[in-house]
Amino acid sequence: MRQMGGAFEDLEKGRCERTLRMYDLIEKKRNGGELSEEEIRWMIGQYVENVIPDYQMSAMLMAIYFRGMTDRETSVMTDAVAHSGDMVDLSPIQGVKVDKHSTGGVGDKTTLVIAPIVAACGVKVAKMSGRGLGHTGGTVDKMESIPGMRTDLDREEFFDVVNRTGLCVIGQSGNMTPADKKLYALRDVTATVDSIPLIAVSVMGKKLAAGNDAILLDVTTGSGAFMKKKEDAIELAKKMTAIGEAAGKRTAALITDMDTPLGFAIGNSLEVKESIEVLRGGGPGDLKTVCLALASNMLYLAGQGSLEECDKKARQAIESGEALERLAAMVEAQGGDKRYVYDTSLFEKAPFCRQIEAQADGYISHMDAESIGIASSMLGAGRETVDSVIDPAAGIILKKKTGDAVKKGEVIAELYASKQELFEPAKKRYQEAIVIADKALAEQPLVLARVEKGKVEVF
Ligand code: URA
Repeated sequence: MRQMGGAFEDLEKGRCERTLRMYDLIEKKRNGGELSEEEIRWMIGQYVENVIPDYQMSAMLMAIYFRGMTDRETSVMTDAVAHSGDMVDLSPIQGVKVDKHSTGGVGDKTTLVIAPIVAACGVKVAKMSGRGLGHTGGTVDKMESIPGMRTDLDREEFFDVVNRTGLCVIGQSGNMTPADKKLYALRDVTATVDSIPLIAVSVMGKKLAAGNDAILLDVTTGSGAFMKKKEDAIELAKKMTAIGEAAGKRTAALITDMDTPLGFAIGNSLEVKESIEVLRGGGPGDLKTVCLALASNMLYLAGQGSLEECDKKARQAIESGEALERLAAMVEAQGGDKRYVYDTSLFEKAPFCRQIEAQADGYISHMDAESIGIASSMLGAGRETVDSVIDPAAGIILKKKTGDAVKKGEVIAELYASKQELFEPAKKRYQEAIVIADKALAEQPLVLARVEKGKVEVF
């Protein structure tokens, strides 16, 4: 064993000090047992310290994937992940602070719309967002398509921007939830991302560490989401809201549709432009509907009135132009060029465009949103690995979406890239993701359910 190097020696050290062995924990979970609080905290601590090697943690993740975790295990592991690094203290920011987290999607640019709306209604948004990986996009990458925009502010700058403008969105800073960073990267390569307890731990670990007073969860479901089935999304929402409430945070979740990409734009600057259109009172109907539902629920959790009153306030924030002003103020405060907010034609365009045509007459009956996200990534809008460089202008504009009638040869999408050779594989992927049928499908609601304090309302 020693011949295999340092990890084993370190593991042995960990074993001697604590009399716990990762092998025994893996075996216990594999056999369907429940891990104790001591075992979970030890495991997370030793993994962050690089004492437990990735191959043992991979086996544990797979055992959890198949065996699940009890509510007690899930909440202890969430707490251990939250406390694995710095816990943010947002008390230098005055007033109620409300957070939102989406479990990920394609064309999901809601943060860029709702953070300014909520701030325009007087509720602070001090938000840490992620970058895209795989088929899903990330808010931080989208924001960085605005020239000059900084998403790496230090704590004091972050607090200052929120206090001055009402909102600030930055990347997850320094040493926050290092356990989630390691676990997420490992899950990404061991086919263990789409596990309800592991997603709950990952999302809520980050949310508890981020220090907000209230949390709204956007649990996406459908072909572009990790939760493909609505029932699983509801189950995940119930677990996450219970963890938030137990930690003393007002928490609710909306289950939103991600069977079709949200809006028409996929890709970083394309999505920023579309978000600005919504803040100007236009934009795609589905994006606006989901954003208003999320913004009004955030305001509701922040104590701004009933859901109906909050919906009115959110709409007024758009109509009055105040939400757009908030976005411009935040962009400027974070070093970005705010002229882009008022004139989106300034965004650099991709040098090449390729159209995709319908292969048959009929109605689009299905769009595999995950494949469409991958097609956008293949054009340069996303990352294949964490080190890949993003092309801010690359991506896809959908011309037809699920439910739309199409004629053979009609343009259904436009691809944008800075290299012509990227088009063919992306086009093939896109075409394979579209199903055209003879009959139109009945329209599905965009917000499928709402979960708060264990109560599930299905719409
Ligand atoms: N988003 C997260 O932050 N973590 C997950 O595990 C899945 C989606």
